[in-house]
Amino acid sequence: MALSAVASTQSIESRIQALKKKRNAVILAHFYEEGDIQDVADHVGDSLFLAQAGQKLTAPVVLLAGVTFMAESVKLLSPEKTVLVPDQNAGCSLVDHSPFDKYLAWRKQYPDALAVTYVNSSAAVKSITDVCVTSSNAEKIINAIPKDRRILFGPDRNLGRYLSKKLNREMIHYPGSCEVHVLFSARKLFELKELHPKALVIAHPECDESVLQYADVIGATSRLLDEVKNNKAVKEFIVATEDGIFHQMRKARPDAVLVQAPAEGSCACNQCPYMKMNNLEKIARALETLQPRVDVDPKLAEKARVSLDRMMAITEGRTVTWPDRFEWA
Ligand code: 13P
Ligand code: SF4
Repeated sequence: MALSAVASTQSIESRIQALKKKRNAVILAHFYEEGDIQDVADHVGDSLFLAQAGQKLTAPVVLLAGVTFMAESVKLLSPEKTVLVPDQNAGCSLVDHSPFDKYLAWRKQYPDALAVTYVNSSAAVKSITDVCVTSSNAEKIINAIPKDRRILFGPDRNLGRYLSKKLNREMIHYPGSCEVHVLFSARKLFELKELHPKALVIAHPECDESVLQYADVIGATSRLLDEVKNNKAVKEFIVATEDGIFHQMRKARPDAVLVQAPAEGSCACNQCPYMKMNNLEKIARALETLQPRVDVDPKLAEKARVSLDRMMAITEGRTVTWPDRFEWA
């Protein structure tokens, strides 16, 4: 039977399972995807986990349900794999805030410094970066940088400021931010805490420092999920991050009350519009057509991979060497 005829009689989920087998593909999904996408995925995780999984898994085709920079990281680390995305327009405001020319001009002002760049950035920006970080390995990476080296941190100024303060390390910050996390309101969070005095406030470090000051736990999506999973003494959590994470939190702790931290105004702004561009239909279509693919120009990829490789090496406890200066040819 032709694929289109099968499609009309099968549920979308079973179509995806059949296509996965046919293509010898794995589906990786970020915690911010809709629950139905997380449920068809082989692995669900934070941005570090997805990059590592893409590298370790042997399947020749990886479909990444997340945003494009995440798929680009998988492609950079595993150039031999076919990397598919459900929607190639699924960007990220941090990538938009750090166009290559602007990042390069900023980087060139401090040639003696080491550029530490959040993975939420383009491959071009990674190519002028000394080491990448994710929110789950950033502390380890920064602690591995010699104390006498100046640090440039971009493009997320909130994550950068949080790390500077926590690690007592001066940094020069690039002025980018996540359009979703900056909308959480400190004033409303303060009021919500009064209504839920026993709740633990857990927040992603992309939130503004006015919000982070009220957080009991600050960490990457995986860290926030672990807190809900493992802190059984706490029955109520106020969660300051994108609402896709609630899917795994509810599964892990059906007994807990999970309250979304409020945003300014009355919008449903705690949804990432880019993550939410993906859906099951687009996943099925991508597996069927093997499009859209994420490809990075091989010359650019060679340069960009250096900063990701350094990140992976430090994450795995290996020592690395650092360039003395930024040389721009
Ligand atoms: P994590 O690295 O914590 O998964 O976060 C990625 C992200 O885009 C947060 O907005
Ligand atoms: Fe980018 Fe923010 Fe969306 Fe994360 S939540 S992908 S940082 S726009």
